Amino acid sequence: MTSEKQMRQDPAYRCLQNLRGLVEKENVSAGIIAEVDKAMDLLKARMDFCEQQTTRPSQDLQQLMNSTLQHDWQKAHDQGQLDRIPSTMMMSGNLEVQFFRTLASLGNVKRVLELGLFTGCSALALAESLPEDGKVISCEIDPYNANLARSFLDKAAAGKKTPAQESMERLAQKKQQFDLIFLDADKPSYVQYYKMIFELGLLAPKGTILVDNALFFGDPYTKERFTGKVGDGITQFNEVVKDDNTVHKVLLPIRDGIMIIRRKEDVD
Ligand SMILES: C[S@@+](CC[C@H](N)C(=O)[O-])C[C@H]1O[C@@H](n2cnc3c(N)ncnc32)[C@H](O)[C@@H]1O
Repeated sequence: MTSEKQMRQDPAYRCLQNLRGLVEKENVSAGIIAEVDKAMDLLKARMDFCEQQTTRPSQDLQQLMNSTLQHDWQKAHDQGQLDRIPSTMMMSGNLEVQFFRTLASLGNVKRVLELGLFTGCSALALAESLPEDGKVISCEIDPYNANLARSFLDKAAAGKKTPAQESMERLAQKKQQFDLIFLDADKPSYVQYYKMIFELGLLAPKGTILVDNALFFGDPYTKERFTGKVGDGITQFNEVVKDDNTVHKVLLPIRDGIMIIRRKEDVD
C-alpha cells in the first residue's frame, strides 16, 4: 500500500490536501468535500493498483526490504554510528525495481554500476536479473549503510553478484565499463555524476543510464522549491540533460520520476 509520505511526493496530491483543509474550514457542501476526498483516493488507488499488478519481489528481496523497515535506525544513531536517521523511503521499492529488472532483461546487461546503495534493495533486484557471471557494483559513501547492506546481501542467493563497493574514479582507473548505470545517490551531485560517467568512460557502448527521483517532489516543474537546495540539484540536472544533444532521454512519472538516458546513436 502506498504510504501517505509517498503520496506527498506528488505536488498535485499536496495541493488537494491543502484544498481539503480549506473546504473543511469554509462552509461548503458535503458534495464538494466528498469530491476532493475522491480525487485524493483515486490518486492513491492508481498507485496501489500499479503495485498490485506488478510481479511480487523474490523472498530474498522481500526479506531485505522488511529488514530495512524493521532495522533499529534509532539505536544506530544513538550509538553514534549514524549522523542522522535515514528515511527508509530512500529504498526504491518493488514497483520501481521490477521496472528496472524488466529493462535489464531487455538488453544484454551483465555489468551494472549503482551510485547510492543504501541497504541494497535495487542492487539485489538488479543482481537477480543478471546472468551468473553478472555483477552489480555500488558506490556508497556511508560505511554504516554499506555494512548493513552487505549483511543483508550475504543472506540472499544473488548477493554474491554484488561485490564490495568502489569509487567511480577507481573503477575508471581499472577501465571498468557498465551496461547499466543507476544514479540514486545525493541529489545535489547528480550533474557532477552525469558528467563523470561520460568523462571517465564508465558507460559501455550501447549502455543505459537510469536516474531516480528525476521529478523530486515536483520541484523541477513546479519551481516551488518544496525541497529547497536538494530539489535545486535535480532541477539543474534536468536542464543539463535536456540541453545535452548527444543523448536520447525519456522521463517517466513512475514513483518520484525515473529518467532513462541512452546515447543518441543507440536510439535514433
Ligand atoms: C536513495 S538512497 C539509495 C537507495 C538504493 N538505491 C535503494 O534502492 O534502496 C541514496 C544513498 O546514497 C548514499 N550517498 C549519498 N551521497 C553519496 C556519495 N557522494 N557517494 C556515494 N553514495 C552516496 C546515501 O548514503 C544513501 O545510502
